[in-house]
Amino acid sequence: MNKDFGEEVTARIGQIQEILEKYLPKEEGNQKTVIEAMNYSVRAGGKRLRPMLMWETYRMFGGRSQVIEPFMAAIEMIHTYSLVHDDLPAMDNDEFRRGKKTTHAQYGEAMGILAGDGLLNYAFETAAGAFEIEPGNMQIGKAISVLAGKAGIHGMLGGQCVDVESEGKAVTEETLRFIYRLKTGALLEASMLIGAILAGATQSEQQKVEQAAGELGLAFQIQDDILDVISTTEDLGKPVGSDEKNHKTTWATLFGIERAKLEVEELSKHSVTLIDTLVVKNEFLTTLMLDLIHRKK
Ligand code: IPE
Ligand code: IPE
Ligand code: MG
Ligand code: MG
Ligand code: MG
Repeated sequence: MNKDFGEEVTARIGQIQEILEKYLPKEEGNQKTVIEAMNYSVRAGGKRLRPMLMWETYRMFGGRSQVIEPFMAAIEMIHTYSLVHDDLPAMDNDEFRRGKKTTHAQYGEAMGILAGDGLLNYAFETAAGAFEIEPGNMQIGKAISVLAGKAGIHGMLGGQCVDVESEGKAVTEETLRFIYRLKTGALLEASMLIGAILAGATQSEQQKVEQAAGELGLAFQIQDDILDVISTTEDLGKPVGSDEKNHKTTWATLFGIERAKLEVEELSKHSVTLIDTLVVKNEFLTTLMLDLIHRKK
């Protein structure tokens, strides 16, 4: 990563963090514990990639309003919920995330489940708040519908279903692709597609953005598999070897690290090629997409 680009990323993470803070629920009331657990998970950190992709796609299509902000917060809440539940004992059973104890390890399993549920619901409450910023904006309804669809049974949740069912089994490339496009690709698609929708992109532009995000998501999950093998817990902020522990077939076990690395590069570059065919441009966005090829965490 060159220095200027790295600084720009850091600056944007700071801005995203401020937006998130604005939308997090107040830790008060008899149910204070679950709200604390929700905020603990969101504040723990992370790359903030999904709100960043959403914002940059929105900007690329000329979006300038604050209406994007509740959606940026909402996508990070949904992503964080997916991680909180992914780490539960019944799922990947991991105790470390974003450099901290996982939510269930910190607050107990019941609170881990509830905090995930809380984040999922609060995400939609937050996104619906966009109507207060622009009451007449019909695109907000479409964006909420995309958010729901990409998070649900035909998106992330559906992918997680096949992921856990496939543990300990021989999995074909086709099934693995299905899992990755859904469990990871769908939220990246939601991020970029919502940015495009709210900025008023045309149908055909939206389709291109969705396809590019899907390929980027596949690359992103393959890189996640690679890092699970070759990285360190310190660098990742989450346990390495989680996939092996859970007897998962991954891109790394199916094809080997070297081929997996090549595919990350190919998919990411192709994804950028699709974005490059658009009339609108955002150099930061395409640089970010390519930078992910070499991400270390
Ligand atoms: C982790 O996502 C889960 C996957 C979909 C691979 P990230 O790698 O974006 O996690 P954070 O948000 O940076 O913690
Ligand atoms: C999970 O994939 C993707 C989600 C939808 C949460 P992983 O199980 O590989 O994600 P990590 O490695 O725990 O972040
Ligand atoms: Mg998992
Ligand atoms: Mg996991
Ligand atoms: Mg992983």
